[in-house]
Amino acid sequence: MRKGKILLGVCGGIAAYKAAELIEGLKRKNEIKVVMTNNSTRFITPLTLQTLSGNPVYSEMFTLPKEWEIAHISLAKWADLLLVVPATANIIGKAASGIADDLLSTVIMASTSPVLFAPAMNKNMWKNHILQENIKRLKKIGYHFIEPTRGILANGQVGIGHLAPVETIIKEVKKRLNET
Ligand SMILES: Cc1cc2nc3c(=O)[nH]c(=O)nc-3n(C[C@H](O)[C@H](O)[C@H](O)COP(=O)(O)O)c2cc1C
Repeated sequence: MRKGKILLGVCGGIAAYKAAELIEGLKRKNEIKVVMTNNSTRFITPLTLQTLSGNPVYSEMFTLPKEWEIAHISLAKWADLLLVVPATANIIGKAASGIADDLLSTVIMASTSPVLFAPAMNKNMWKNHILQENIKRLKKIGYHFIEPTRGILANGQVGIGHLAPVETIIKEVKKRLNET
């Protein structure tokens, strides 16, 4: 059976460690490549995600390529689905505004495959009007979201902003890849 190719974008939030669990849950049936923002590497190491995914981890736009391929274009072309976990307020804002100033935001811009965001953040950030307007805008254009849940957040507060459960994200990925 053909394996659905998932490009996992990892951003700089506390829930970045969940990217490791997601790779574990998806890799039997899917090929996974990972793009990390520079900030996400402060939360989880590229080494961990590279080892678990069995593929190189990408984060730099301007390194000299080993093969003559431009990373953001070839990664966007390679993927059947682009999954961004955890999606920070920052990456959502950049995508909604057409900003492409690092590898992940540029891949999102270059992608013609479905893009699925799973946001996670502090409850006040989640409620922020600009963030909500950005999400509304992206949904209208055709981007998909897996809503965060209510739970205990990183700072101990209770509220909405907790990353959706890994099983929910996996279910949504399978649905989008027609693998259910
Ligand atoms: C300890 C810590 C935890 C953070 N957690 C989150 C988070 O869960 N969600 C979020 O949107 N931003 C969070 N941030 C802020 C982002 O790291 C920051 O906005 C950063 O610019 C995001 O960069 P990126 O989107 O390029 O990865 C956190 C920052 C710190 C220092």
